[in-house]
Amino acid sequence: MEIQCDESHDSAVMAILKTTEEVNQLKDVDTILDKILHESRRLANADAGSIFLVEDGALTFSYVQNDTLCKGSGANAALYQNFKVPISECSIVGYAALTKQTVVIDDAYELEATLPYSFNKSFDEKSGYRTTSMLTIPMVSQGSRLVGVMQLINARNEQGKAIPFDLEAQIHISLFGNNASVAIERGIMNRELILRMMQMAELRDPSETGAHVQRVGAYCAEIYGTWAQRRGHTAKQIKRERDNLRLAAMLHDVGKVGISDSILKKPGRLNDEEYDTMKWHTVYGARLFRNQTSDLDRMSMEIALNHHEKWAGGGYPGAIRDIWASDAALGQSLKGESIPLAARICAVADVFDALTSPRSYKDPFPDEKTLGILEKDAGTHFDPELVEIFMEIFDVIKAIRAKYKESGH
Ligand code: C2E
Ligand code: SIN
Ligand code: SIN
Ligand code: FE
Ligand code: FE
Repeated sequence: MEIQCDESHDSAVMAILKTTEEVNQLKDVDTILDKILHESRRLANADAGSIFLVEDGALTFSYVQNDTLCKGSGANAALYQNFKVPISECSIVGYAALTKQTVVIDDAYELEATLPYSFNKSFDEKSGYRTTSMLTIPMVSQGSRLVGVMQLINARNEQGKAIPFDLEAQIHISLFGNNASVAIERGIMNRELILRMMQMAELRDPSETGAHVQRVGAYCAEIYGTWAQRRGHTAKQIKRERDNLRLAAMLHDVGKVGISDSILKKPGRLNDEEYDTMKWHTVYGARLFRNQTSDLDRMSMEIALNHHEKWAGGGYPGAIRDIWASDAALGQSLKGESIPLAARICAVADVFDALTSPRSYKDPFPDEKTLGILEKDAGTHFDPELVEIFMEIFDVIKAIRAKYKESGH
């Protein structure tokens, strides 16, 4: 394709390259998708958009943004919708994936009958949204590997009215989409690496499944997002912290690899001595992040070490002078805000998930009973503000739970 190199085009390409660099610094795949979609929508002034990633030979719905339907609420249940679309001619995203071609549609309700694909109206019907123009691009990584499909909806003119996507937007967005594919692939690898690490632990403790780990990570990210938004943190700050928190929280129990099977897999309640041994999983976990070379390492260490501390005291492992000392002993428990925020968040998420899941030593509790325990223990076990936030975003929590069901990772 001929690209005219006028000045505005040049500066747009520079901006795309700069944003690509920024995307490459992000670590978690959801944060990467968020940034890519945000920037693409900005380039085309599009009201909404979503990203589908290729997984097991199908397109998995992976991210969505919609300015009209979702005006800046911190936590968003729509992100955790769970559905797949086949790579086939029948749908617009499927067609773009199959042919690796951009699909430009000026009005989704006026598609020519001769086209192989049709527009799926069910989302508009459910939400009351009106989809008009659509730009659907395949995202192709190095070696022409298809990573996913991005779909932008309703380009807007200055008055906010939906207009067709112009040629310039098409060119810019496919350039950006292809550059960003590399970052997406790396984000997926990062998360899989963590899941593999946890699978080692899972071999040891069958209750710490990949699904548990994904849920706790996502719960923490959403609690944190709402917490930080309440304090007026900027979107940029929130994204960076949330990204680290999500990955770090997935590793909260990685120290269970250091606990013997006879304790970890005990079918009944632990006795006092066994429970005291179990408490060391926090310290063992923290020791894995010896080289605190990044914010992620530091936060992983904080969470592993402190996720069983309690707001009013009485948790473990407490202040330990030197976690490396061979005679290290559990210390005086931490309290309140001396417990790192990330660990306080993880405590709420981990206990909620432990209570609502089956364990070798207990059946799952129903939500009502679980929420009763969280509320009762707000201010003693848990930071009360974090429990309040948890209740406030409970619809999002449920959406996460539905997405990461057991065996579903
Ligand atoms: P986990 O199963 O992931 O549980 C995490 C936390 O959820 C527990 O931390 C506790 O705060 C909460 N929790 C779990 N089950 C219950 C429950 O039935 N009632 C209440 N009120 N809270 C619950 P905790 O107690 O420090 O335990 C840490 C880890 O030690 C647990 O992780 C589990 O792996 C192990 N563990 C604890 N108690 C037992 C037990 O009686 N038998 C066995 N086999 N393992 C246990
Ligand atoms: C806080 O307790 O409000 C922040 C602590 C942290 O940065 O982890
Ligand atoms: C912050 O909000 O700046 C601290 C976040 C954290 O420690 O998780
Ligand atoms: Fe733990
Ligand atoms: Fe856990």
